[in-house]
Amino acid sequence: MQTTEHEKRVAAQAAAELVEDGMSVGLGTGTTVAFLVPALAARGLDLRCVATSPRTESLAREAGLRTERFSSVEHLDIAIDGADQVSPDGWLVKGGGGAHTREKLVAATADRFVVIVDSTKLVPALRPPVPLELLSFGLASTLLRLEVLGPVRRRDAPRTPDGGVICDYLGPITDLRLLAGRLSTVPGVVEHGLFPPEMVAEILVGRGGRAERLRPEAGGP
Ligand code: A5P
Repeated sequence: MQTTEHEKRVAAQAAAELVEDGMSVGLGTGTTVAFLVPALAARGLDLRCVATSPRTESLAREAGLRTERFSSVEHLDIAIDGADQVSPDGWLVKGGGGAHTREKLVAATADRFVVIVDSTKLVPALRPPVPLELLSFGLASTLLRLEVLGPVRRRDAPRTPDGGVICDYLGPITDLRLLAGRLSTVPGVVEHGLFPPEMVAEILVGRGGRAERLRPEAGGP
């Protein structure tokens, strides 16, 4: 197995160890979460899981994890997910797989949001692209409003399970909080892929053969 894949597995296994019997668990989407699902199932705990994508839902069911529809869930004990980039101060870019809207909702519902990454995801500063999910209704006008902030490219990707159109913001990223706020206020933007540090309880980074904890809950990175 390549180093990166091994690091993903190591981070995922460390996260699986954080889950306790009886917990409700949000499962993210992506290749790192694909290592988490079997690691979690192997623990043999009594869990209720919510998946952030049809792909994760299938993986979870195949592994024998019990999944629930998110529509009727008010609270989750923990959510675990990958990320495309992690900045030194704990901001994330997510949505490489186009699932960031559901991922953000599930993360926001959890008491504890744990991020699992291989060491290549740690970057000195976040860089574009920033994934966007846009409402298809009024798409052309939404794209025009976004162009004021910077170039946006429509991704060659299927609609999301919620009917959204996936695009990528390619403009400058200087002030993250300002950009996140501006993207959020553009009518037609369902969600963007910038996750602020206050959403994140901890980041488990696979490095070589071990998992490093970057952001303990007691403090910052
Ligand atoms: C899905 O839309 C994304 O947010 C993923 O969680 C993110 O891209 C990390 O994916 P990998 O674990 O495949 O790198």
